[in-house]
Formats: sequence, structure tokens, C-alpha cells
Amino acid sequence: MKMKKKMYIKTWGCQMNEYDSSMISGILKQRKHYEITNIPEKADILILNTCSIREKAQEKVFHQLGRWKYLKKQKPDLIIAVGGCVATQEGKEIKKRAKYVDIIFGTQTLHRLPKMIDLSHKIKKTIIDITFPKIEKFDYLPEPYIPNISSFVSIMEGCNKYCSFCIVPYTRGKEISRPCDDIIFEISLLAEKGVREVNLLGQNVNAYKGNTFNGKICKFSELLRLIAEIDGIDRIRFTTSNPIEFTDDIIDVYRDTPKLVSFLHLPVQSGSDRILKLMKRSYTVSEYKTIINKLLNVRPNIQISSDFIVGFPGETEQDFQDTLTLINDIKFDISYSFLYSPRPGTPAARLADNVTQNKKKQRLYILQNLINQQTTYWNKKLLYSTQSVLVEGVSKKNIMKLSGRTETNRIIHFTGSPDMIGKFINLKITDYYRNTLQGHVIES
Ligand code: SAH
Ligand code: F3S
Repeated sequence: MKMKKKMYIKTWGCQMNEYDSSMISGILKQRKHYEITNIPEKADILILNTCSIREKAQEKVFHQLGRWKYLKKQKPDLIIAVGGCVATQEGKEIKKRAKYVDIIFGTQTLHRLPKMIDLSHKIKKTIIDITFPKIEKFDYLPEPYIPNISSFVSIMEGCNKYCSFCIVPYTRGKEISRPCDDIIFEISLLAEKGVREVNLLGQNVNAYKGNTFNGKICKFSELLRLIAEIDGIDRIRFTTSNPIEFTDDIIDVYRDTPKLVSFLHLPVQSGSDRILKLMKRSYTVSEYKTIINKLLNVRPNIQISSDFIVGFPGETEQDFQDTLTLINDIKFDISYSFLYSPRPGTPAARLADNVTQNKKKQRLYILQNLINQQTTYWNKKLLYSTQSVLVEGVSKKNIMKLSGRTETNRIIHFTGSPDMIGKFINLKITDYYRNTLQGHVIES
């Protein structure tokens, strides 16, 4: 029997990159009969899916490639492929600096990998395709094979918002929505295979505007309602949405549709109107609060999480205090906070900055402390309550336990039996750690 070729995929960055990597592995499995290996030395192709959202992304890529170069010396037929956001931005530079790289592909051309691999076997030159072919990528999604109980479903890509600090519009391209019927078809298929929860994925899901079979445009709120109709799908999540375009019709879906979870990640970035303006976020703190208040009106138990950027150029002590005030007001749940990192080519990278790195780090520390306190507040509120938990599988931390998620996205570990996997179980919360909960079954 012929041995199957092996692929090793290293992924950095966001859920979109994770999703793309699963798409790459699906495509190469179906069209080139590769199988996954976790050992780079055993691979016939090494794939690096890169991220450029923060830090010195470029150098990190060259360090990794430098390590793989030695593997290629031992195995000259080995293919090295680099994709993702750094490849899209710096493709030509990679070709120049790392001549041993065989394939450079972009965020929108990963479906062309099988052809690029064929070509690479024929010509011994770096093959590069980092173009933005319109929507083509969605037509090549591999069929979902062993889906998890909770599955990501890509509904749109790209971003047109051009926040002044952000690289995404340059690396992911313009907003493109997948046709509505394709999404409904995929989710129905997932439901048939046992999926109970979908997490709709996109850089800006609430900007979704997909074509329907009868030539109309389906908005995000309409898409949510259609998905809620699918038998077997009992929970709907999405990530990430933006306060811009978080319109009342979406809030109405929260009012009408219990399948849409009482949890929302809605990145605010800063609590200072002055900074929000410099960031080109197009909303004010008061507009953000209005959205949250409307949501609380229809869903009093909804929990909100956010992203924050600390140390944006010129952030004053007052700006920072305003962010802390907003955090206190909203009582955000588990949130993500980052030190501002200038991204080459973005407008904010040209702004004058008089805040020292030390000061920025101090502020980040203070902000993270406050968020942690609030996470504990929410954990305490959950203690001894009963929660409906979708059981996802065996706990990664302890194989004697199962794990699942509450509606508010908290991971919970508990003792149970394997037949509970894929079901909703009522658990009593008995203890909490910083980001996870402990519980015991009260009813199945
Ligand atoms: N579409 C999402 C953001 C995607 S990027 C939104 O609308 O908010 C994910 C997060 O990375 C952002 O929310 C932001 O907090 C952070 N981020 C993006 N660019 C950054 C930069 N240059 N420096 C620090 N953090 C950044
Ligand atoms: Fe980035 Fe702003 Fe879009 S943070 S992904 S440019 S909404």
C-alpha cells in the first residue's frame, strides 16, 4: 500500500486563521490525499499560516522558516509553504529573503494550494499567489467531515472599516459575504452530522449582506433568524461583531430568538471619545452604551466582553481613566486587552506618541487587573446557580472529566458519562477558577 503524504500546519493568530488552516487541511486531504502529522520531521509539506495583527510578526516568520530550512536540507523534496496575513503583505520580501520557500499563498488564495503544489514539483522556483480573487475562496470550501459539537461557519470575510491602527483591511481585503443559501445548506448538513451549536465567523459579521437565490440581499439579522429555524441547531454564537452597524434589527433578534446566546463580544477598544475618533472607530462611548442598554432591555442576563487597546498614540491619563470608567460601568466579562502596536502602513503608525512604553505597560496592568476583578464578580454570581451546558467532550485538563460551555461561553468541567457528549445537561456550579468553572450534574 502506498504511504499517504503528510502535512504539518502551524497556525498563528485569530479564529479566522484557525478556520483557514482547517480549510487548508480539508482541501489537501480531499484533493491531494495528504494526512495531518504533528511532527514536522515526518512531513512532506510544512505550512505556516501567519498573523500580523500585533508584534514583530515578520521577524517571527523568518525565525520559524530558518528552523524549517534545516529540515529541507535533509529532505530536498520537502515543500515549505507560507500563507496568511504576513504572506499577503510581505510575500515578495519572503521570496527575496527566504529563497528556499516553495509556495507563498494569500488569505484569499489558499484554495489554489493543490495546483501550486503540483507546479512546485515541476519547477524549482518560489511560486507566489497573494492576489484577492473575488469570493472564489468560498466556492472551494471542503465538505465538513468530522465536525465538533460546536462548529465554526464562515459567513463573511474582510473588513472595510479601516480603523487607523488595524492591518486587517490590508491583509484580508474588502468585506465579502457568502451567499445566504450556501450558509444555510452548510449548517443544515452540520446539524445532520450532530452539530448542536454554530459560531458564525467573520471580521465583521454584522456587516453581513449575502445574496439569496431569488436575487435579494439577506442582512445579518435575517440570516440569524433563518439559522434559528434549522432543526438540531440549538445555540447560535458569532464572532466578531462591531459597534458600527449593530442595528436595532439585530437587537430584535435577541428579543425573539432564545437560540441566540446571552453573550456578546463587542469590541469597544477605548472608553475615550477623543481616542475613538483618532482610531476612526465611528462611534462614541455614549453610542456604545446605548447599544448595550438596548440589549440589556431585551436580555437582562446578557454578558458582554470586549477588546481594548492600551497606549494608543497620545493616550492621556484622562483618556485611560475614561476607559476604566467604561469598564466599571459595563462590567465587562472576560475580555482581551493589548498594548498598542504600530502596524506598518496604517495611519496610526504615523501619529506622534509621547507616552513611554513603561507607562503603557503600567496602564495595561491596571486595566487587566480591573477586568480580572470583574471576571471574578461574574464567576461569583454563577456560583451555586444551575446552568444549561452543552457538553463538548472529554476535558483537555483531566481525562476523567467532561467539559462543556455555559451559554455565556464559560468552560465548565464536571464528572459525567460519555453518553452526555453532544447533549445539553443541567449543572450546578460548585466552584470557579479564573476562567473556568466546576460543576456537578443535577439532571440529564
Ligand atoms: N473586527 C474586530 C477586530 C479584529 S482585530 C473589531 O471590530 O474590533 C482583533 C483585536 O486586535 C482588535 O479588536 C484590537 O483590540 C486588536 N488590535 C488590532 N490591531 C492592533 C494594533 N495595531 N495594536 C494592538 N492591538 C490591535
Ligand atoms: Fe480592524 Fe477595525 Fe476592521 S479593528 S478588522 S479595521 S473593524
